[in-house]
Amino acid sequence: MPVSFMEISRRSFLRCTACTAAATTLPKLALSVASSKRIILDTDPGVDDAMAIFLALRSPELKVEAITAVSGNVPLSLTLPNALRLVEIAGRTDIPVAAGAATPLVRRLVTAKYAHGNNGLGGVEFPEPKTKPVAETAVELISRMIRANPGEITIVAVGPLTNIATALIADPSLASKIQSILVMGGSLNGGNITPAAEFNFYVDPEAARIVFDAGIPLTTVGLNVTNRVQIHEEQVRVLEAAKNPVSQAAGKIMRATLDRFLRERQVTGFGMHDPVTVAHLIDPTILTVRDYYVQIETTGELTAGESVAYSRAPRSSPPMNNGLPPSDTAEAEFKPNCKVAVEADADKFFRLLLSRLTASS
Ligand code: BDR
Ligand code: CA
Repeated sequence: MPVSFMEISRRSFLRCTACTAAATTLPKLALSVASSKRIILDTDPGVDDAMAIFLALRSPELKVEAITAVSGNVPLSLTLPNALRLVEIAGRTDIPVAAGAATPLVRRLVTAKYAHGNNGLGGVEFPEPKTKPVAETAVELISRMIRANPGEITIVAVGPLTNIATALIADPSLASKIQSILVMGGSLNGGNITPAAEFNFYVDPEAARIVFDAGIPLTTVGLNVTNRVQIHEEQVRVLEAAKNPVSQAAGKIMRATLDRFLRERQVTGFGMHDPVTVAHLIDPTILTVRDYYVQIETTGELTAGESVAYSRAPRSSPPMNNGLPPSDTAEAEFKPNCKVAVEADADKFFRLLLSRLTASS
């Protein structure tokens, strides 16, 4: 009976004479399958950013090359030390942390202290970080690493896209050297800061537009999915029960956040926006993604930051009637510019998150 490649073991593959020539390529293949995905994590910690950072740092499938901080949930003066605190708690001070943009490209900063607490970590006080950010700015670091490793690095952006857009403005040739960008942002069914816009895109719509229009392989994970993956009391208890510093810190941050949300909003859960996004790189079966053409609204008086997602060729507003004969309105060809998450397996996500954060080392 013929045996498929997938069915034969590595040993039998190496024994098989017909496979001898190909065997020389096997160690390389096996290595590349087993090797970690290289990422730069751009973030605005942020309580769910904290979960995302911990998940990334405790997942062997990912090699976090750098963490770059950006203003968003709270100003950079807090997101930067928060990022440093989180890498210290995770015992990963080997990872460079760089300071990014203090303000959006052209707008005033809007923060989300109402959701993340005044300090961005749910109001939980952690010691001042001892480690310092690297001397390079986020844009310098991103540009240098991408140029030195063309096609090798994925950017995972879970805050406003200011740093990434600034790097692309400074050097448009980076676009062809970034392996892909995985973004937490946008929504297929309405926003969380306005009826139209999701927070990360609302804070810096111009930056989001630059990233979406850059022609870089893009995957977005938006509120339509992340709002359905909420952490509740039962998961927080699991975090609190494990004794390692990461699980303890994550438990404190989420406990404080859930307590405040219950007090102030009478709700019992918090969307795991950023860690669900990171999880997509660790286990691609958690999210289902579909092709879309996404544009970011930047001029709308009421809709700035809205992600307008087409599952067919885009169409703009109908032309004004100028009395001339109508022009051809035939539908154009559908050319997707990104993969958009449309479904999530929340149970599978929480099994991953909790197992990684509660593991003893
Ligand atoms: C996004 O906005 C922030 O408040 C969260 O950290 C997440 O990145 C959700 O809209
Ligand atoms: Ca975030």
